[in-house]
Amino acid sequence: MISGEIFYPRRAQKCCRVGAVWPPGTVTYWLCPHPVWWPVPRVTYIEPDGHAVTLEVKSGRTVMSAAMEAGIEGIEAQCGGNLACATCHCYVQEPWLDQLPLPSEDELLMLGNVAAERRDNSRLSCQLIVRPQLDGLTVQFPERQS
Ligand code: FES
Repeated sequence: MISGEIFYPRRAQKCCRVGAVWPPGTVTYWLCPHPVWWPVPRVTYIEPDGHAVTLEVKSGRTVMSAAMEAGIEGIEAQCGGNLACATCHCYVQEPWLDQLPLPSEDELLMLGNVAAERRDNSRLSCQLIVRPQLDGLTVQFPERQS
């Protein structure tokens, strides 16, 4: 997509002409001010065996909570998202790593405790909050979490 081009995502039709452009200077994303028209972001989970599952995840939920609810393989999330176990470790696939907020100091600390190999694209999925701009986000779970 060319920067500056207006992109109307799935289900966000041209219902009005007032919106916000996000993020400035990169991919232009039209957010209709009527939340009912906002797309439900799709997140793809790649299980340790390579099987991919795509879910629609409501904005505001974490990548971890939707995966647990759907019974995705390869995640344990023993602490329930309290940033205390590092068993929700995932690898964020390109190009999404740059679209995510940077990890907090606490998350970076916990990433030091992951059971599988820690990579540059390692994140804790309980800290990844889904929002409309992340439609298409893809994460892969490692072979082991503990
Ligand atoms: S669920 Fe425990 S750190 Fe993410």
